[in-house]
Amino acid sequence: MTTHVHYDDRLGTWNVTGHPEMLSALNDPATFSSNIPRLFGEHPDDRISDGNLVQTDPPDHRKLRSLANTAFTPKVVAALQPRIVELTTELLDAVDGDLELVSQLAHPLPVIVIAELLGVPVSDRELFRQWADLLLLNDGEFTAKDEDGAQARRFQEMAAALQPMADYLLSHLNERRTRPREDLLTRLVQAELDGERLTDGQLVNFTTVLLLAGHITTTMLLTNTVLCLDENPEHAAKIRADRSLLPGAIEESLRLRSPFNVLARVTAVETALGGQVIPADRMVLLWANQANRDPRVFARPDEFDPLRDPNPHLSFGRGIHFCLGAPLARLEGRIALNLLLDRFPVLRTDPADPPVLTATTNSTGVSRLPLRTAY
Ligand code: HEM
Repeated sequence: MTTHVHYDDRLGTWNVTGHPEMLSALNDPATFSSNIPRLFGEHPDDRISDGNLVQTDPPDHRKLRSLANTAFTPKVVAALQPRIVELTTELLDAVDGDLELVSQLAHPLPVIVIAELLGVPVSDRELFRQWADLLLLNDGEFTAKDEDGAQARRFQEMAAALQPMADYLLSHLNERRTRPREDLLTRLVQAELDGERLTDGQLVNFTTVLLLAGHITTTMLLTNTVLCLDENPEHAAKIRADRSLLPGAIEESLRLRSPFNVLARVTAVETALGGQVIPADRMVLLWANQANRDPRVFARPDEFDPLRDPNPHLSFGRGIHFCLGAPLARLEGRIALNLLLDRFPVLRTDPADPPVLTATTNSTGVSRLPLRTAY
């Protein structure tokens, strides 16, 4: 019998691979807490979680999220459309001959969009890339045992390596305190939760998530969708001819190549899931990449089908932590891919210069995607 929830004795983690089981966990934040550092007690990593939306539980999460929601209303996101078109056009105008999609479009576009939204200088984007790579390359296995302390050291090293980013963001936040501007950083330093301003630590962690979550994943979404089209030329031809199929293709790309493969939770109490009993205080890994191919929910689960409807993939998560930036990511995806298809009648991977996959268990993406633009 297929099990959808199983314990990994080596790592001490519970693993959830079924769709209904993952959904149950995501919809029950009281049992499946996002406060991962609680598992490590007085772990030094605590300092990177205060104010970090992704690792905060209710009631604090509700307050922080309502603050974040005001920055990402449908109106704010829709208003970005002309700028995203302009940026994509500029980036594509600079392409001369064949295309390397990551460096020429998929990375710069989302980074510039989020930097402009926050109000940090776009010219620093190489720095953002280095910090994001640090996070991505830090792909050690999650373990709940950590008997040799390797994971604790990894977290510490990561916090230390990201300190320059914290200093960078804080200097910009401080500047807004004295010289307010029309940007998100200014709104954040002025915002109040329960009548109090956010602390420096909360502000830094909050903006870190926006800056990094706001681009790494969207870069992957763009490249992953182009890879799906490359692998499915018949669908690609139909999508070129009928662009109303593109949003469905983007959802299928998200389902089959989920940028984040895995989400982490900690059990607050003993609970039953998928016929198993998980004790309290255990790390639970929710594998979106596997839940997205659960044959109980998705017919022909390994097939790319842009017409799949409904398509309840879990690549943006679900429940109270559902991705704040999903409307922005989808908008960037639609604009960039439409303009890319308009511009290049041919977009094919090159067997002589194949894509370079990011070889991590936590994410699905590429670091280089050379494309031929002529037969
Ligand atoms: C949360 C995926 C783009 C900001 C999440 C979560 C996932 C996710 C799976 C849930 C984490 C959890 O439950 O533990 C993605 C993917 C993206 C994307 C696949 C692109 C294709 C963006 C963008 C932004 C963003 C563009 C910001 C501009 C956030 C934030 C959260 C979040 C702030 C935390 C929400 C909360 O905890 O309440 N994202 N994301 N994401 N995402 Fe995204």
